[in-house]
Amino acid sequence: MNIHNLDKTNSILNHFISEIRDHEIQKDSMRFRRNIERIGEILSYEMSKELNFQSSAVKTPLGEKVIPKVADDLVLCSVLRAGLPLHQGILNYFDQIENAFISAYRKHSSPEEFEIKVEYLASPSLENKVLILADPMLATGSSLAAVYEVLNKTGNIKQVHIVSVIAAQQGIDFITNHFPKDTHLWVATVDQQLNSKGYIVPGLGDAGDLAYGNKL
Ligand code: URA
Repeated sequence: MNIHNLDKTNSILNHFISEIRDHEIQKDSMRFRRNIERIGEILSYEMSKELNFQSSAVKTPLGEKVIPKVADDLVLCSVLRAGLPLHQGILNYFDQIENAFISAYRKHSSPEEFEIKVEYLASPSLENKVLILADPMLATGSSLAAVYEVLNKTGNIKQVHIVSVIAAQQGIDFITNHFPKDTHLWVATVDQQLNSKGYIVPGLGDAGDLAYGNKL
């Protein structure tokens, strides 16, 4: 696993992370979604540096310039529902990307115990494509691993880039053992703890609820 933690360098990204964490500012769901989207844009830019490029000539009104452009076939798959604003942020930069959606939720047998259920998948072929997997909160890592297990059965995936906003160290350690070695993880920031319910501490709370409202 190649881990790229963007908070190692101070940048404007810190402002967006600070706003999604802030217990007052995050109550504005439109601003919360927009900040996640902006973080997705920044992560996309950084991730693009690891893709394969091929040069082609562009004609300007005054001449010609050879410019390297992304050559990989990309599929962006987001984990519903919290992944949607992050999905939009990535889509803002990779406008020709193919899209996939997958559901994963925690089915609790007690407040502390749960298993991950993957029930819905809408995806193009992943054969020989670069898969960008978007999940804003990498907590235990079990949903990402479950999602990848399902996606991996659908085709021969060329490479995986995981895009996440906040990751717990425990989740990073877990997915390292469940994804191919050449996988890249792009994360805006890393927290050290998980609580007994599998939430990231200090984290930000429930990303899906903050973006789209409480669920039953
Ligand atoms: N999902 C969230 O939305 N928040 C967490 O802290 C963990 C998983």
